[in-house]
Amino acid sequence: MEFKLLPGGDITGEARVPGDKSISHRSIMLGALAEGVTRVSGFLEGEDALATVAAFRDMGVQIEGPEDGRVTIHGVGLNGLRAPERPLDLGNSGTSIRLLAGLLAGQPFSCDLTGDESLRGRPMGRVIDPLTLMGADIHGADGGRPPLHISGGKRLTGIRYDLPMASAQVKSCVLLAGLYASGTTSVTEPAPTRDHTERMLRGFGYDVTNRDGVISLAGGGSLQAAAIDVPADISSAAFFLVAASIAPGSDLLLTHVGINPTRIGVINILKLMGADITLRNQREVGGEPVADILVRHAPLRGIEIPQDQVPLAIDEFPALFIAAACAQGRTVLRGAGELRVKESDRIASMAEGLTTLGIHNEVLDDGIIIDGGTIGGGVIRTFHDHRIAMSFAIAALRAEEEIRVLDCDHVATSFPGFDALARGLGLQISAMTD
Ligand code: S3P
Repeated sequence: MEFKLLPGGDITGEARVPGDKSISHRSIMLGALAEGVTRVSGFLEGEDALATVAAFRDMGVQIEGPEDGRVTIHGVGLNGLRAPERPLDLGNSGTSIRLLAGLLAGQPFSCDLTGDESLRGRPMGRVIDPLTLMGADIHGADGGRPPLHISGGKRLTGIRYDLPMASAQVKSCVLLAGLYASGTTSVTEPAPTRDHTERMLRGFGYDVTNRDGVISLAGGGSLQAAAIDVPADISSAAFFLVAASIAPGSDLLLTHVGINPTRIGVINILKLMGADITLRNQREVGGEPVADILVRHAPLRGIEIPQDQVPLAIDEFPALFIAAACAQGRTVLRGAGELRVKESDRIASMAEGLTTLGIHNEVLDDGIIIDGGTIGGGVIRTFHDHRIAMSFAIAALRAEEEIRVLDCDHVATSFPGFDALARGLGLQISAMTD
């Protein structure tokens, strides 16, 4: 499937984008390991989260739905998972494979974890290393990539682990393994990353502390089922925050969006660039802060992106690069080497597309320099990466000619219905099946 986009338009109206991907994954994982029945609403019915659902079904967990965003999980308790009969296929989902590696490392059974071509190219040494230190027996293919094989029946011991990179997936992996370890498991991170695992564990009655940045839990407790209301995903909202900011005449309200402080880099960065964004009706839903976000067109200016915002906006940089392309002046991003090991090398993928559209940019090892300019038109490759596809779709709002975005099937991993929702708000997009 590819997107065809006519140039111009504005983004106006009200919308609720699909549920948060990170929280949806965790709701299935913790719901499965809890005692009792967990009811989830607002669940993301995207392929990544569905891969997590399928994996737990393969391990004997009864899960009803999703239907209209509602899922019911019949928890089996921390020691109730059954050995899967086949390798667990996590599709495109890095979150699934890395978090599952942690919670499966201490099981009595062995298992294999694999995924699609993109996932099989992603680094797993970052989870293999700490799990091995805890006593797990886990191996990847060449260079520590999936498939992963975990030999069961190993006794895990709590460790104190200083994360070498700012990664919520690695942090969560170690903490989930810690549920099965003797003693205390602690992690520190080089910069704060999304804390949904810690929040949800607490919501399920598990004691997780954070003392001066040392995040700890003790093994051997239990999780109690809890209701979960998944907010709309700020990472999906990001495309429309940028879209409405760059397109003259736009006026958009995004409702029920998660604004966890570890996720709001995109709002902070856009505001520094001059965006007109207002948070309304701030509230807390199930331990996660939520708001309605009003965004109107505003002229943007290029900035040096502050280092402390990088982990807080890590998934939103493809969209932010489009904002930079439409801004007056130069935007500089450094310290974002993690972008190179996402669903694609997002620095290289975005640089190629920006160049195709006539936007001058310079690639750095750990970032990019983008000079705002006039967006032309052309044919864009996405490298099987959902966020690259959606970013170049919204670029059409400021393009002078038609944009074709190739290979957009992966959009369904995080944002099913993106094209219909975007069309309803004013993007001139059509999805063409080839
Ligand atoms: C996620 C963590 C981030 C993010 C990913 C989701 C999570 O990955 O990019 O989309 O749910 O924990 P890293 O931990 O690799 O930074």
